[in-house]
Amino acid sequence: MVYTDYFFDEPVFDLHDGGYIPLEKTDLPEKPLSIPKLLKPDKIEGNDVYYTITAQEGETQILPGKKTKTWGFSAPLLGKTVVFKQGVHYHIHLVNELPEVTTFHWHGLNVTGPIVDGGPHAPVYPGGSRDIDFTLDQPAQTDWLHPHPCPNTARQVWNGLAAAVIVTDPEEAKLPFPRNYGVDDIPIVLQDRNYHDNQLDYKTDYDMDGTLGKYAVINGTINGVFNVTTQRLRLRILNGSNRREWRLHFDDDHEFTQIASDGGTLPEPVELTKLMITTAERDEVIVDFGDKKPGDVVTLMSDDVPILKFKVGNYTRNDVKLPSHLNTIPKPVVTPGSKIVHTVMSGMDDQVRLDGKLFDMQRIDRKQKIGDTILWDVTNTNDMDKGMIHPFHLHGCQFLVLSRNGKDVYPNEHGWKDVVGVNAGETVRIAVKFTKFGIYMYHCHILEHEDTGMMAQIEAYDPDHEHKFHLISMEEMMNGGKS
Ligand code: C2O
Ligand code: CU
Ligand code: CU
Repeated sequence: MVYTDYFFDEPVFDLHDGGYIPLEKTDLPEKPLSIPKLLKPDKIEGNDVYYTITAQEGETQILPGKKTKTWGFSAPLLGKTVVFKQGVHYHIHLVNELPEVTTFHWHGLNVTGPIVDGGPHAPVYPGGSRDIDFTLDQPAQTDWLHPHPCPNTARQVWNGLAAAVIVTDPEEAKLPFPRNYGVDDIPIVLQDRNYHDNQLDYKTDYDMDGTLGKYAVINGTINGVFNVTTQRLRLRILNGSNRREWRLHFDDDHEFTQIASDGGTLPEPVELTKLMITTAERDEVIVDFGDKKPGDVVTLMSDDVPILKFKVGNYTRNDVKLPSHLNTIPKPVVTPGSKIVHTVMSGMDDQVRLDGKLFDMQRIDRKQKIGDTILWDVTNTNDMDKGMIHPFHLHGCQFLVLSRNGKDVYPNEHGWKDVVGVNAGETVRIAVKFTKFGIYMYHCHILEHEDTGMMAQIEAYDPDHEHKFHLISMEEMMNGGKS
């Protein structure tokens, strides 16, 4: 069965808002799609691997003419791709060479909060550094690293900070997926930007409902071309946009197969011709160019705008059939006697709220015992006509999506997720289990909504070991106690 629709509710596609800026077809020259380099370890000592990641300024040739001033993680723009292996103990030296405070948030990683997780409680000041370490203990998936110093997250991501993170594990490694980085396994970081005299200008482009740009910028490339040298190509698609939903399809309605969502491999492959991805989500797909011949060009579109070309070259025939079963995802067993958690995303513009409140770094909004599996009903109270989709994100765990307004979830939502797009007027039921104690954020992942305060925090606690958390204020995060 091949699915040919976007699943989400058409009336709330983000096309109708007055401030909406559609992507524009570009007349800029074609350029090879940039593929982020892999981050190299500083040293490896048995099972201990050491990295340094530097948030830095740089310059990037994005448009013809003047270079654009950009930010990145150990790169002038976006970041080097970090590859983590399940079971390895990582030690990471985080360095801030930016002129302002930032944080290093591991979106999707199951690490302790709030410090290792890298939310607003873990500031790194200009010229300063922070050392974290953790043992990677989750399955293969595509995650990402982005700054999280709310209220400046959106601007820092807009300036360029976003790196792909690839987790590998021995189980997933047995599956017949392409896995040669840069050749048949590539990150696709979807972003949109505007330029003013070739420079970014977040203030000018700012929109409280999420900043949009008319240029589709993929891995930092506008009008990119990827030369296909294998029959099958794996795309690790990451929506790294501040707000934009991408509605992806090929110009010739070429089919593709989704194999993974945020938290890793899906239970079964899902055949599609259309895929909508809301902010911060990751979808891995395999495109099989077996019906194409050298010289053919297949164009990836979002809505009706071409965003990336695939030029098919000579490839060796490789007709692999994916197994119909890819991954076993256990049915969640809800903790007996537990109550359903209700959480509400409401409003637009400066009216956005989470559970009727704005974020307070020193307030713990909820508690949940580690090991418990609790149902959360996440509601978007916007109405259909004027509403928009709020993508709901939870730190510190991967959840399962159980229902949408009591009905079945979308066919590609049967795997682990850490972001779920909630339609206007909809309640999405998810099953949430934390395995590590800590303070974790949950919020709308439209970055400007998050920065405005559409965010709250939960303490995942271990009843046998009490932990005291020092929760700093936003003032302290911004100034480090200095005024
Ligand atoms: Cu992608 Cu709170 O983060
Ligand atoms: Cu996150
Ligand atoms: Cu929102």
